Amino acid sequence: MEVFIAGGTGFIGRHLAKYLLRRGFRVKVLVRRPERALVISEGVIPSYGNPIIPGDWLHECAKADVIINLVGANIFARWTSKYKELIYESRILTTKHIVSVLTKGQILLNASAIGFYGTDRGEEEITEESAPGKDFLAKVCKSWEETAFSAKDKGVRVCTLRLGIVLGRDGGALSKMLLPFKLGLGGPIGHGKQWFPWIHIEDVCAAVTFLIKKDVSGPFNLVAPEIVRNKEFIQTLARVLRRPALLPVPPKALELIFGELVDILVGGVKARPKRLLEAGYIFSFPELFPALQNLFKKRLLRR
Ligand SMILES: NC(=O)c1ccc[n+]([C@@H]2O[C@H](COP(=O)([O-])OP(=O)(O)OC[C@H]3O[C@@H](n4cnc5c(N)ncnc54)[C@H](OP(=O)(O)O)[C@@H]3O)[C@@H](O)[C@H]2O)c1
Repeated sequence: MEVFIAGGTGFIGRHLAKYLLRRGFRVKVLVRRPERALVISEGVIPSYGNPIIPGDWLHECAKADVIINLVGANIFARWTSKYKELIYESRILTTKHIVSVLTKGQILLNASAIGFYGTDRGEEEITEESAPGKDFLAKVCKSWEETAFSAKDKGVRVCTLRLGIVLGRDGGALSKMLLPFKLGLGGPIGHGKQWFPWIHIEDVCAAVTFLIKKDVSGPFNLVAPEIVRNKEFIQTLARVLRRPALLPVPPKALELIFGELVDILVGGVKARPKRLLEAGYIFSFPELFPALQNLFKKRLLRR
């Protein structure tokens, strides 16, 4: 089975490409900058092109059995109006181009985010049936998913991946939290009571493989069954790293650095992986402490 990954040079894509390759898939990855070909694992086939511009790379999409679309400008930046445009366009244009060449029988797994539900949902239990949020990122996710689901009309099986905060050592939010921790400055954000919907990178790879093989479609929350609050996450991370969890980080300080993005860091929804569990997916890391222990075990053994 051939898989084409757009956005395969990023944090999740690199792990996923390697994971699928080891399980016997033929894996092709879209590379927009030649120097990024270096991050691809041996055995993965690069295909060159810019996902926001239609080009020859779309022939590869048209040929693959499965297309995984992870393209998107990183949200961890200051959200100027120009950057917000890039966050939106990099996702929607890429998805539109991909959908334009798909035909009956192909499978599209398209990234989305738990941000689909917005940030201000308090104690509400969030499942795939919950209504979308109204903030900027929620609107981006909604358009992103609508664009992906438009492929259904062509007979394509479409799943959207509403990703929580993906935990891995070499990318994503966790890698950004490590430096303050190493400096002894790690602490919860604000009051720390906000929910922190996390998932281990290995479960992302395994769940995507599960969705390729299982005949299901629609949106899927990719979050671990054990949901924790931000304060508990920070305390557990501190325990695993054997570093102190210090004073709360005031949201105002973050606002100076990140602007509007701070709402995402301070808000968090109590999301559940309802549809994945119903479909029969078994998490390798359903609980936070063992998940973090697994990610840092090599480091702890070296100490
Ligand atoms: N990681 C998480 O915790 C998380 C949570 C929720 C949702 N997601 C979503 O899942 C997707 C993958 O996440 P990730 O953590 O792997 O992201 P990432 O490491 O930032 O990788 C993003 C991918 O998109 C490409 N890209 C970035 N900006 C682009 C632009 N302006 N034009 C065209 N391509 C561009 C990158 O190419 P280069 O390698 O050339 O830069 C890379 O292949 C993203 O869309 C993200 O929003 C991630």
